[in-house]
Amino acid sequence: MKLLDGKATAQHLKEEVKAHVSEMKQRGERVPHLAAVLVGNDGASLTYVGSKVRSCEYVGFESTLIQLPEDTTEAALLEQVDALNADPAIDGYIVQLPLPKHIDAEKVLLAVAPHKDVDGFHPTNFGRMALELEAFIPATPYGIIELLERYEIPTSGKHCVVVGRSAIVGRPISILMSQKRTAGNATVTVAHSRTENLEALTRQADILIMALGIPDYLKSDMVKPGAVVIDVGITRVPDANHPKGYVIKGDVDFDAVAPKASYITPVPGGVGPMTIAMLLKNTLLARMWNAN
Ligand code: GUN
Repeated sequence: MKLLDGKATAQHLKEEVKAHVSEMKQRGERVPHLAAVLVGNDGASLTYVGSKVRSCEYVGFESTLIQLPEDTTEAALLEQVDALNADPAIDGYIVQLPLPKHIDAEKVLLAVAPHKDVDGFHPTNFGRMALELEAFIPATPYGIIELLERYEIPTSGKHCVVVGRSAIVGRPISILMSQKRTAGNATVTVAHSRTENLEALTRQADILIMALGIPDYLKSDMVKPGAVVIDVGITRVPDANHPKGYVIKGDVDFDAVAPKASYITPVPGGVGPMTIAMLLKNTLLARMWNAN
């Protein structure tokens, strides 16, 4: 079994972005500028956004954190989005999810200008991605593709089973894995909560991508020997023995599955860190694609 070390790979990527930014500076060019909008005080969101801002600083990007109170109206948030769309100093931005219940997230994501949508959540980017046109690819699936490529894992002709059909992970990664690309050309099956006899499918997978959100769901008898196992789960499970009061759990029972896998991502330290690195990469791409 070999570990797909997302933490180390993300660090490599960040060093590459940092070197690129440093060259931009030397040429006297403006550096990429990412903004993040955070509405409310969701603990996990605060952590993620904080980490995104620190990563921006590390690679030499400009970053702006726009923190709005929980009771921000949908209209006020849409005004903020319009302002970011119009601001020539901002290359790309994200609106951190989840949004408070009184705000229609779909409406907000549709208002983000596609050329600044570094999360790749706008239908224009999703459609362009599906059509293999230049597009912002959502950071989590993009991170999985990057991990598979950097570890030179053969995917062509392999059976890839994706468990989960969310708009930001399961659905896009299933499309990407079937496309003509280095980490692609796979035969893809998408399974989800209504799939019958899921174990029969997971056992056939050469590459198994778990994006279900149920801690420790995948057990060793559900995996083919030698499979590549990618764990996208990040569920906070309460744990009184831990100083933070919780532990982060993936969808894969790692200790049971790892001995059977050829490659496996740990949680934490697998797909998670790659997600932030790919957001940085998308912001760099935004700066380059939108350069005037
Ligand atoms: N919430 C959880 N993951 C993400 C993400 O990738 N982008 C945004 N904007 N919100 C999230």
